[in-house]
Amino acid sequence: MEDISTPNPLLQGLELTREPEPFAIVIFGVTGDLTRKKLIPALFSLFVKEHISRFRIIGFARRPWGKEGFREQAADMLDKKEFQNVSSDIKNTFLSRLEYIQSPFEEQDGYARIDEYTKGFHTRIYYLSTPPNAYEPIIEGLGNHGLQAQEHCSTRIIVEKPFGRDLASARKLNMTLSKYFQEEQIYRIDHYLGKETVQNLMVLRFGNGIFEPIWNNRYIDHVQITVSEKIGVGTRGNYYEQAGALRDMVQNHVFQLLSLTAMEPPNDLRPDSIRNEKVKVLSSLRPITYREVGDCTVRGQYAEGVIDGQEVPGYREEKGVSEDSRTETFVALKLFLDTWRWAGVPFFLRSGKRLARRTSEIAVYFKEPPHHIFSSQTPTLQKNHLIIRIQPDEGMTMVFNAKIPGYTTVMRPVKMDFFYGRTFGETPPEAYERLLLDAMIGDSTLYTRRDEIESSWGFITRILKGWEEDDSPIPQYRAGGAGPEETRELLGDEKRRWSKL
Ligand code: BG6
Repeated sequence: MEDISTPNPLLQGLELTREPEPFAIVIFGVTGDLTRKKLIPALFSLFVKEHISRFRIIGFARRPWGKEGFREQAADMLDKKEFQNVSSDIKNTFLSRLEYIQSPFEEQDGYARIDEYTKGFHTRIYYLSTPPNAYEPIIEGLGNHGLQAQEHCSTRIIVEKPFGRDLASARKLNMTLSKYFQEEQIYRIDHYLGKETVQNLMVLRFGNGIFEPIWNNRYIDHVQITVSEKIGVGTRGNYYEQAGALRDMVQNHVFQLLSLTAMEPPNDLRPDSIRNEKVKVLSSLRPITYREVGDCTVRGQYAEGVIDGQEVPGYREEKGVSEDSRTETFVALKLFLDTWRWAGVPFFLRSGKRLARRTSEIAVYFKEPPHHIFSSQTPTLQKNHLIIRIQPDEGMTMVFNAKIPGYTTVMRPVKMDFFYGRTFGETPPEAYERLLLDAMIGDSTLYTRRDEIESSWGFITRILKGWEEDDSPIPQYRAGGAGPEETRELLGDEKRRWSKL
């Protein structure tokens, strides 16, 4: 094996503020989709941008790929538009850093070989990207071989989602992890936190003077958080049948957006200062008891319909999905946070597949002026609102009312827009690039802490239990639409409207 743990002379003297120590990363379940779509492209991109130079990537899986097979597969994973102009020398150098251990996860031989491949590297990262039932055997395998704590090394473990499927299983996984790893070594990933616009939420709120004074129940009527997708479950029917939208999207991604929107300002930017504030939001969620699930939640399942001019099948016709499935592909929730700041302000969350538009956004709706002196000219006016677009068209729009030019005082809503792309030009780095780099450096700010994950599962598990008790039919919605009709009623107040999908 080539020794790549020594500094690369080409990079010496280069000012790289975020270059990690030499590291070896072992990817468990490397033959899966995540490696192909995200991990290898992200690692390569970091290499091309010279954020990493001294590293080794070790694939660990059951399939008999071998080192050469892994390198060939990885070459194929780099066959992407954004890497078209990268020289083959750079590609080959990257590929020469790839090694492969073929082993079942439950057998000990594979673990015995990890040390040989990671020797000489200061930082060792284990990445769990397997189906979740392999997590515990892998953690035990690492622990049994003492791979979690080696002398003069920093060892970290990254755990992909799904992190459990309810509170009990998430706790069990946390217990297994904590048998061998310290909390500072555990990096629970949620790729939403790697998105540039999600990180900007804190900058927006705490780096500006104008938003925070009105970010509370005196001025805010309600908040809507939407994460909608046009895609269906595709080839993931089997997985999705066990998950559903609440587990797949809300417990993690949507709750991250909620925490960052609602949290109090942290005292500083240390990982725990930020995560302490996020946990407080989750632990202030007013529980939805099983009697309230009917009033505070809406479920739906997509039926056939048309997306981008193409006819698409309904969920129950998808591969791996049962004909009488009760798994939800859409969920909407009405939540309250029992805090001084948010008392009485409903948060409406919705997420679903096969909807009219792909968007992740937070819309903050402000209260109307206390006295409406223009009511005779414009009897109904839209509430002022700020839309924070996480993706696509990353940016923000402020919607407020303006006088239509003319001799009378008639008003209509107008928009003030900020687009990331137009202002900064550059395409922001892929979420996985940022998150992997942080893990290499040892910065866990953008990863989920144990209490955070258990708080969110605690809340979600009550809803799941409530749904189990309810055997009424799951509303169907047309693919390409805005979700089930019932979602409208969740808003309660006639004057409230969901942002358009
Ligand atoms: C994943 C979910 O975590 O996030 C998928 O498992 C979903 O079902 C995906 O499609 C959405 O991610 P993004 O970054 O495309 O919004």
